[in-house]
Amino acid sequence: MLVHNISQLLTLAGGPQRGADLGRLGIIDDGAVLIRDGQIAAVGAADALLAAYPDEPRLDAGGRAVLPGFVDPHTHLVWAGNRAAEFEMRLQGKTYLEIQAAGGGILSTVRATRGASVDALLAETLPRAQALFRHGTTTAEAKTGYGLELESELRQMQVLLEIGRRGPLEIVPTYLGAHMIAPEYTADPDAYTEIVAAGQLPALAAWWAEHAPDRPLPFVDVFCETGAFTLAQTRRILQAARDLGFPLKIHADEFDNLGGASLAAELGAASADHLVKTSPEDMRAMAAAGTVAVSLPCTPFGLADPHYTPARDILAAGGTLAIASDLNPGTGWCENMQFVIALSCRYLRLTPAQAIAAATINGAAALGLDDRVGSIEAGKQADLLVLKVDDYRHLGYRFGTNLAHMVIKRGVIYPVDEI
Ligand code: NIG
Ligand code: FE
Repeated sequence: MLVHNISQLLTLAGGPQRGADLGRLGIIDDGAVLIRDGQIAAVGAADALLAAYPDEPRLDAGGRAVLPGFVDPHTHLVWAGNRAAEFEMRLQGKTYLEIQAAGGGILSTVRATRGASVDALLAETLPRAQALFRHGTTTAEAKTGYGLELESELRQMQVLLEIGRRGPLEIVPTYLGAHMIAPEYTADPDAYTEIVAAGQLPALAAWWAEHAPDRPLPFVDVFCETGAFTLAQTRRILQAARDLGFPLKIHADEFDNLGGASLAAELGAASADHLVKTSPEDMRAMAAAGTVAVSLPCTPFGLADPHYTPARDILAAGGTLAIASDLNPGTGWCENMQFVIALSCRYLRLTPAQAIAAATINGAAALGLDDRVGSIEAGKQADLLVLKVDDYRHLGYRFGTNLAHMVIKRGVIYPVDEI
């Protein structure tokens, strides 16, 4: 299939974009893309490709802009229930951490999720996966983390693998048994830390070998934060995970700087995420280690908190910046990376071009998948987003509606119908 009549083809060619390099869209005006067997076979000017492949079936993009499907490198896709009542409590003056300390917050979603069967979790989670896809996300990382006990965490993992199998959204799974101290261990957080490090992680490795032997190992993530895991506890868990061969991620510096971002760099984590209270030393350490800095602007927005990731400082330090939705029931229930781009333009002070690169090729880098997704280049997976508009800058500029016209996943076309 030859996709042609593309006003602007944003290729994002050339790999992940560090520091001042961010925002290199690699635009081909009046471009075309040849797709074969779900892969991108050729990319170039429309007149050249139309002449070279005269008999190829054609897809007329109608003069619209085309870019790689979004790669959302941080979601908490699978949970049961909702926290609408807590949202209202926050508006009435309670803070997120106060609600958490009183047994609400993440723990309230843990209660609902522990009580849900695989089928119930699937029924609640699938519409969110479809919503991500409908808004142009073709690959999403997705975390467990609302079980805080092995059996329930593995049930969430099973749901995530099943959603990925059903498609079209591609799922990159992460184990987050260390999202919060399990309620049974609030008096002895070190005991729960040991359970995760010495119990859950080896059990996860064995479960993986049995249930998903053909898939790469999932990421292991820890919420390193006041009220969750200390730096020492985080180190214990991530080191155990690394010893078992799991790739690493971390939630760091959302409310307080405990040193999690520098720990991520030291341990060779693929990414450190949130990064609101991050210091210049942390930024330099991440840049030197190649740990991708993932900003989650929906989280402060969702909490009506004016503090966002100092994205420009991260870029000035030479860091690789990605953006993600953080889709979750507490701080930011948002399935729309277009809205994440709009927030990034305003509060991280990125240009649309920078935000788009952070949402595609650099999102792929945060998942170690930049050799397969995140750009439109020959040899990569054919994951494309056709916009409703002919100018990419409408991403960022406009918000609150869906600008996706058509989503293409592994060469299969999904028209976005918004009647
Ligand atoms: O990334 N910060 C920790 N985890 C989520 C919030 C999860 C929740 O509130 O349910 C986050 O923002
Ligand atoms: Fe998160």
